[in-house]
Amino acid sequence: MTQHCTLTLNGNADPLVELPVLSGTVGPDVIDVQTLYNKTGLFTYDPGFTSTASCSSSITYIDGEAGVLLYRGYPIEQLAEKCTFLEVCYLLLNGELPDKAQMHTFESTITMHTMVHDQLTNFFKGFRRDAHPMAIMVAVVGALSAFYHDALDIKSKKDRDISAIRLIAKVPTIVAMCHKYSTGLPFMYPQNKLSYVENFMRMMLATPCDEYVPNPVLVRALDRILILHADHEQNASTSTVRLAGSSGANPYACITSGIACLWGAAHGGANEAVLNMLIEIGDVSRIPLYISKAKDKNDAFRLMGFGHRVYKNHDPRAKLMRATCHEVLTELGLHDDELFKLALELERIALEDPYFIEKKLYPNVDFYSGIVLHALGIPTNMFTAMFAMGRTVGWIAHWDEMIADPEQKIGRPRQLYTGATQRDVPAQHGNAG
Ligand code: CMC
Repeated sequence: MTQHCTLTLNGNADPLVELPVLSGTVGPDVIDVQTLYNKTGLFTYDPGFTSTASCSSSITYIDGEAGVLLYRGYPIEQLAEKCTFLEVCYLLLNGELPDKAQMHTFESTITMHTMVHDQLTNFFKGFRRDAHPMAIMVAVVGALSAFYHDALDIKSKKDRDISAIRLIAKVPTIVAMCHKYSTGLPFMYPQNKLSYVENFMRMMLATPCDEYVPNPVLVRALDRILILHADHEQNASTSTVRLAGSSGANPYACITSGIACLWGAAHGGANEAVLNMLIEIGDVSRIPLYISKAKDKNDAFRLMGFGHRVYKNHDPRAKLMRATCHEVLTELGLHDDELFKLALELERIALEDPYFIEKKLYPNVDFYSGIVLHALGIPTNMFTAMFAMGRTVGWIAHWDEMIADPEQKIGRPRQLYTGATQRDVPAQHGNAG
């Protein structure tokens, strides 16, 4: 039976409108307000979209209270344990895990697209060496559409699939190039004999002078970081990609809008902010000072890597990342490193502090991913670019789902206008005439 929600105004006995209530496969029902304005002349008001479902989607499910995260129905814990990042990419894009043959084809297709057009390297030269890598990423990924316009018909599923492969394959190459450019080192070409993550680590961390030997523990750690960041439902950057895509913009432009949104410190910039915060704190003895700053309403300082809009009990990704963090620190013998000791002590103190307990502020995935990336030798200013590399597949999966959705229309929110009402420009104003 279809459920309805009746809206009344000022306690009037006569209902203003009846609105259908829709159910998904799991999760809260939604009140379908699409007809509200036509029927009543009223809009809904929800800054920050805290109570608004902007679309229907079958990709990722989150239960923030229970700390559940599912990609296409599979729990993140099982995917992180049993799958590689590329298998998760296939799953997110196609809805099902690949069999051996499908995986082989997918992996070799990705491998064959990892090089970027050679002329793209010219773009880098226009940037200062000290430019933030995310600034370069935004420009270079956006520029891809100028190189690959042979497959930009967004109505064609074949073209959309080609763009998806190109983006997943080329973004790691571009991320590594951003880093090499900023350090003045030569770009490293991809090597087809290496796995996706091995290849990225080589392009990022090796030089032409030495043979690169991948460490399986570190490769697995990075693979897991990418899996845990691959998708997260209608987060800010994914919603940005959907909104950009709703106008019919090309996939490279849309993914670029996601990268720009991700850059903010409240979103993907948090892992970088965590490391900068640890460096600023500097010593275990200064932790109480920073804890009290985080609690002080008059101080803008927040404990970076703590809290989440959706997870209010625990972030399931943080639990997995914490385990990976310890594996990496053990592998590299870094448990006694001052910065890591500081991070683990900060985590312990914050978890025992009533302010953080009462407000349900637990370490989020970026608290630990920042530490792991630092241990892997990734420079702090590259952390958000690493997040973008993992999230690219999620953005593409959502973009593709949206384009294929028959209900899709251009995104166009309305507003509660609080400015001046209509008025005339004073007669004595201006130089016209
Ligand atoms: N340190 C200190 N106090 C905090 C923190 C923090 N990290 N996070 C939230 N609070 C307080 C906040 O001041 C507010 O207090 P009050 O109720 O007294 O006004 C209360 O907790 C609720 O916070 P909120 O800002 O209303 O919650 P939100 O859901 O809008 O914000 C958040 C979520 C992630 C933006 C926020 O927790 C934050 O800024 N955290 C630090 C940045 C961070 O780590 N971001 C990464 C998120 S995970 C990666 C991703 O998925 O993008």
